[in-house]
Amino acid sequence: MEAISTKDELTEQLSEWRAEGDHIALVPTMGNLHAGHLSLIDAAREHAERVVVSVFVNPTQFGVDEDFDDYPRTLDRDTRRLRKVRADVLFAPDVETIYPFGIEQATQVIVPQLTDTLCGAHRPGHFDGVTTVVTRLFALVQPDVALFGLKDFQQQMVIRRMTEDLHIPINIVSVPTVREEDGLAMSSRNSYLDETQRAIAPELFKVLNRTADEIRHGESDFAGLESLMHESIAAGGFRPEYAAIRNASDLSEPTAETREFAILVAAYLGETRLIDNVRVSR
Ligand code: PAF
Repeated sequence: MEAISTKDELTEQLSEWRAEGDHIALVPTMGNLHAGHLSLIDAAREHAERVVVSVFVNPTQFGVDEDFDDYPRTLDRDTRRLRKVRADVLFAPDVETIYPFGIEQATQVIVPQLTDTLCGAHRPGHFDGVTTVVTRLFALVQPDVALFGLKDFQQQMVIRRMTEDLHIPINIVSVPTVREEDGLAMSSRNSYLDETQRAIAPELFKVLNRTADEIRHGESDFAGLESLMHESIAAGGFRPEYAAIRNASDLSEPTAETREFAILVAAYLGETRLIDNVRVSR
């Protein structure tokens, strides 16, 4: 596996592969790789002969009071892991490579409306940073396919919309959430949890599943279910940010006609913000 940090090296490697007729998959990450990321790489292999994994902790998607400085940076360990799973390239650029005119002067890509709700409503500017950096990674790598985890349900939806709206010729593939044995969705931020918080954390997934069962069995009082989720999460020791039931196709409020639902939560355990979601149809 090649570890590359510059645009020139990346371009050279990519042109070699393209000349050989290889397809290229991109797995964008912020590093601190866990089994969830490795499942994205496995899925990438099904779509392309070559897999590029980017590791870049993107400053523009963190709010001023968020954990940009503390975000776990584990490039050596990530490199070893990527060698083991035989990724073809680790692309770990610096901020200047991604934002050549600096962050203040950076061209931004913004997806309106879809980003006004849920995580977007609670983390103003977050998705603008995500779509801006993903567009740059797309432009640098020009992959045939890019893979994103369903744990960040709204994120993958926003990226799909952006890609379609801007006519970007990249196939977006969404990959199921990977969970710990007790159901906790894998996340780099789980490493912030202390022992007590780690024991509480799987309750989020249980609350989501209980709500999914209610919907599957015909419950249509969505506001009532949302309040129940909120209460259960708070009773479990979390500080809930949102607990929402949405139409899975566009994140709008569900109606009696809705058949595909996404149930989404964001909640704090101490200073750690966790998100999770499940989908259910009826
Ligand atoms: O999901 C992530 O890790 C990040 O939001 C992404 C897509 C790599 C963009 O920085």
